[in-house]
Amino acid sequence: MRLVITDSYEQMGLEAANIVAGQIYLKPNSVLGLATGSTPVSMYERLVLVHRTVGLDFSEVTTFNLDEYIGMRPDNSQSYHYFMQENFFRHINIRQENVYIPDGMAEDTVAEGRRYEQLIAAKGGIDLQVLGIGQNAHIGFNEPDVKFAATTHKVELDEETIQANSRFFNDASEVPRYAISMGIKTIMMAEHVIMLANGKNKARAVYKALCGDVTPEAPASILQLHRDVTVIVDKEAASLLPADIHDIQIKNLCR
Ligand code: GLP
Repeated sequence: MRLVITDSYEQMGLEAANIVAGQIYLKPNSVLGLATGSTPVSMYERLVLVHRTVGLDFSEVTTFNLDEYIGMRPDNSQSYHYFMQENFFRHINIRQENVYIPDGMAEDTVAEGRRYEQLIAAKGGIDLQVLGIGQNAHIGFNEPDVKFAATTHKVELDEETIQANSRFFNDASEVPRYAISMGIKTIMMAEHVIMLANGKNKARAVYKALCGDVTPEAPASILQLHRDVTVIVDKEAASLLPADIHDIQIKNLCR
């Protein structure tokens, strides 16, 4: 695991975008796993800029998003389909047929999970997975549980997640209670993973993910067992990490 601590949210996005851009330069037909939420927005902005200024080419890239709310139509402005189009896809030259997001309108969520996993496998698996982290240390929508979730599946959102995500809605009662999400196994099968976090409200989750026990009660802690993870956090999200993290190679951009 590598840890990058940045001075600012914008710099976190820049570091993440550099890794994604490097991945695409090295392998133009890369398969990316993508995340939604406010965290990766600065990364998407930077990637759009690199596309516009130096022509970073997404024409051969395939993307799989982590999750979608159940019951949310793609044209609903609260859907993750809509988020991805607005924040990223419509600004770059990706082919829409290479964009995959779980279908929140699927009647049979078990079949949808199976279909999604088969699509990922058919594309050769995910080369680089981008993650945010929830305040309760969830990744994707894999909420704290007594066992690690396996593959893409239906999840019931925790009250803490509903409250956290209610800032995007008029009030908490509008937040969907269920989602369909890649599972922990799906995420762990990616070749490379980058996890992003910013702000003080993520400090506890980042601490649990990096320094806590590996437990399904802190789903992101599973990343300690992945062979190739880069964690990029701003200094506020890093504020609870001990100064001497022995097993992590620290590239501290602040000093
Ligand atoms: C959401 C998403 C996650 C995201 C997390 C944090 O519920 N399912 O993929 O990483 O919560 O969101 P934010 O970046 O807005 O804090």
